[in-house]
Amino acid sequence: MTTTDSDLADDQDLDLAHCSALIFGTPMIAYPWPESDNLNEALREVILVKEEESKGLVRSNVGGWHSGTDFFAWDAECVRTLRSRVQQLTVSLTRRIMLTPEGPRRFNYRLDGWANVNRRGSYNAVHNHPNCLWSGTYYVASGQPDKESSKQNGKLELLDPRVGANMMYVKGTRLENRFIIDPLPGLMVMFPSWLNHLVHPFAGEGERISVAFNIVTTEVPTAEQLA
Ligand SMILES: [Fe+2]
Repeated sequence: MTTTDSDLADDQDLDLAHCSALIFGTPMIAYPWPESDNLNEALREVILVKEEESKGLVRSNVGGWHSGTDFFAWDAECVRTLRSRVQQLTVSLTRRIMLTPEGPRRFNYRLDGWANVNRRGSYNAVHNHPNCLWSGTYYVASGQPDKESSKQNGKLELLDPRVGANMMYVKGTRLENRFIIDPLPGLMVMFPSWLNHLVHPFAGEGERISVAFNIVTTEVPTAEQLA
């Protein structure tokens, strides 16, 4: 027997507001920092100068330039500004996942970061970042993507971590299993480090520049816990 939803009268629609939950959710923030143009211009200059000076690393990047992981120790005002933005968002995001808001809890955060410069054809293979709590990216420049290019050109894709979630899903619902982010300058994205992700190949002129980072978090014990 099959039915359609029109067979169900409106007054039979059950109120599920207090007995439903989205379980095993994955927190993700995509925060557009306002007034970022000057900062992005300064970051772009600093990063491109560093690129001239160093061969860079090969990690998840296929092509492109990946700086050393000491980005946040670079001696430049724009780097310090970005570090403070990452710290602010880290604290806010960590507070947001607390199940026990009552009582003081404090955390220490260790931040590592690196700059990425992707030119035509560069991408980042599927990966995650072991041994950290949060990972994220700040977008400095999006280059000039080709007009006639794929929808995913240069975009970040976060992969659904639910095993088997692609067995059957309904497009345009919470069961959908693709999450794609446009690398708009000024946008800062953060998500749990265990979440697999990739960057689609960049087809365009100029440089797609981002700063990626990892955050290790340790809770500071309270005086009572130490006693
Ligand atoms: Fe990554």
